[in-house]
Amino acid sequence: MKRDRFLLAITFIVILTVDVYFVLLPRLRAWYDLSSGGCNCHGVNGSVRYPEQVPHKKTLSSNFVSQKGSKLKRLFGHPLYNIHLPELSPDERLLEEEALMEYYRRKVTRWQRQQKFYVEAAAASNISLPEQPVNFNTDASWLRFHLGINRYSLYPRDDENIDQLLHDMQSATIIGADYTQDEKALKGACDCSQVVKPSGHHLKLALKLQDFGKAMFKPMRQERHEETPEDFFYFVDFQRHNAEIASFHLDRVLDFRRVPPVVGRLINVTGEVLYTTYNEELRSVFFTSPANNTCFFAKCLYVCKTEYAVCGHPDLLEGSMSAYLPGLSVAPRISIPSPWIRSYTFTGKEEWEVNPSYCDTIKKLYPYSSGNRLLNIIDMAIFDFLTGNMDRHHYEIFTKFGDEGLLLHLDNARGFGKHSYDEMSILAPLTQCCMIKRSTLLRLQLLMQPEYRLSDVMRESLDRDPLRPVLTELHLQALDRRLERVIRSVSRCVKKLGEAKVVVTDFIEASGAATERNHKKSR
Ligand SMILES: Nc1ncnc2c1ncn2[C@@H]1O[C@H](COP(=O)(O)OP(=O)(O)OP(=O)(O)O)[C@@H](O)[C@H]1O
Ligand SMILES: *[C@@H]1O[C@H](CO)[C@@H](O)[C@H](O)[C@H]1NC(C)=O
Ligand SMILES: *[C@@H]1O[C@H](CO)[C@@H](O)[C@H](O)[C@H]1NC(C)=O
Ligand SMILES: *[C@@H]1O[C@H](CO)[C@@H](O)[C@H](O)[C@H]1NC(C)=O
Ligand SMILES: *[C@@H]1O[C@H](CO)[C@@H](O)[C@H](O)[C@H]1NC(C)=O
Repeated sequence: MKRDRFLLAITFIVILTVDVYFVLLPRLRAWYDLSSGGCNCHGVNGSVRYPEQVPHKKTLSSNFVSQKGSKLKRLFGHPLYNIHLPELSPDERLLEEEALMEYYRRKVTRWQRQQKFYVEAAAASNISLPEQPVNFNTDASWLRFHLGINRYSLYPRDDENIDQLLHDMQSATIIGADYTQDEKALKGACDCSQVVKPSGHHLKLALKLQDFGKAMFKPMRQERHEETPEDFFYFVDFQRHNAEIASFHLDRVLDFRRVPPVVGRLINVTGEVLYTTYNEELRSVFFTSPANNTCFFAKCLYVCKTEYAVCGHPDLLEGSMSAYLPGLSVAPRISIPSPWIRSYTFTGKEEWEVNPSYCDTIKKLYPYSSGNRLLNIIDMAIFDFLTGNMDRHHYEIFTKFGDEGLLLHLDNARGFGKHSYDEMSILAPLTQCCMIKRSTLLRLQLLMQPEYRLSDVMRESLDRDPLRPVLTELHLQALDRRLERVIRSVSRCVKKLGEAKVVVTDFIEASGAATERNHKKSR
């Protein structure tokens, strides 16, 4: 009995702490900013002034019709993609440089110690392991990526370092392979709150690179031209490596920058996974197929069946490399169930599917009742609708930024399954709430113009990936069609409720107190 009471007390304290952190602190801070008169403002004036509205088609075509060359470059050069944010204050950055370097130096030392141990142990039993020295460099592209994360986005616009990071993930020597934390957490146990989700299909690996950077590898499971079979439920659908790559490019084209950088890579399953792993369990799932290809299984939750394996040809395998976010111990994140979560059973329906005024309820609920959170969810719904990803059951945020931070769009491998079908229910947050950020809408409208057509800029962007063509033409065309459907949904809302209610100016503070922003600073 005493223990129960103790637990209850602890629970209360935790709730209280969370409340103080997320609710009280931002309010106090906002109040302080106001009362001190000065502007410690980080943000843009309540009404962001856009350099220029999307010009009319006519003027655009007369300007650009003769111009050839890169549409993508032109897009990124557009004033809408050049809205400057004010200088970031230190607490708007995710990580502090000194502390991070110290953290990674310790990790490198530990890794080296472990490696020495393994090599010695192997030598004792007459196996020679390849020496894989770490080449840790404080200027490494993955480190600069980590240091650049702030409360608005994962990386800045036109950041050369991101191109460097993509290049490094694609070419750097792999010095270690292991299961990801998620896979390890699944070990044997079934998370039964997620009913029938057979995660046994998942095949993802954490690959460590020579510069101590880390990438999540998802192997190719499906040919690019194949469509998801009609009878598949969304939650047993394959994960597609090309969807992971294309989603990163789409996210950047939309200027969200909420997806960690992803690049395609041909992996030698034998030399770069089997020979670099120190994980016995991972070694044990490798086998040679009748065609003499090297294959490996997914971590098997239930039964290992060879259908669930992937194979190299004979040892080369395509896959996506997604840059790891900073470890959870240096940059904690929380995972929050989406209010528009789907039922993960065969027959179940969630409330949002049957109640057309579901959004009114959500709007009253913290944290959707204030700030940008609901608008961020709607951005995410638009992104998922464009890719056709039905599997966004949770979203993640960095704890440090609380409610005012960006939403991370992780795990996009279930997109781009069907090009011939648009799943309108993914757009429910937009169609039910009838709200959208002005900045998002302006960019979507821009991408409808022939001069910046979404499929064209995507084709061009994806053409830089080593595994090009990443998407088939049919998938690229589906993007244009879906974009038009998004715009039409917004128009319907505007017709019903008026533009003022539907198109919302960005950057509203949660408290509503700090909306008076310093505009001059942002120019
Ligand atoms: N790019 C990404 N896409 C999807 N998930 C990611 C990505 N980067 C990291 N994660 C997830 O974040 C978690 C990272 O966990 P964790 O912090 O344990 O990584 P780590 O670097 O191995 O940890 P540590 O630094 O504590 O050793 C993993 O569960 C991983 O799946
Ligand atoms: C193991 O090492 C010993 C000593 O070097 C050597 O004689 C022997 O051939 C090795 N065995 C195998 C199986 O390689
Ligand atoms: C893959 O790696 C293995 C082991 O290092 C090597 O023998 C093989 O030649 C490699 N295959 C290719 C295509 O590079
Ligand atoms: C696979 O390799 C074995 C041994 O090297 C060989 O005997 C066999 O013919 C090969 N099979 C195929 C399908 O190439
Ligand atoms: C912010 O925008 C409003 C409305 O356009 C304007 O009246 C106000 O002066 C601006 N504030 C600053 C600090 O520029």
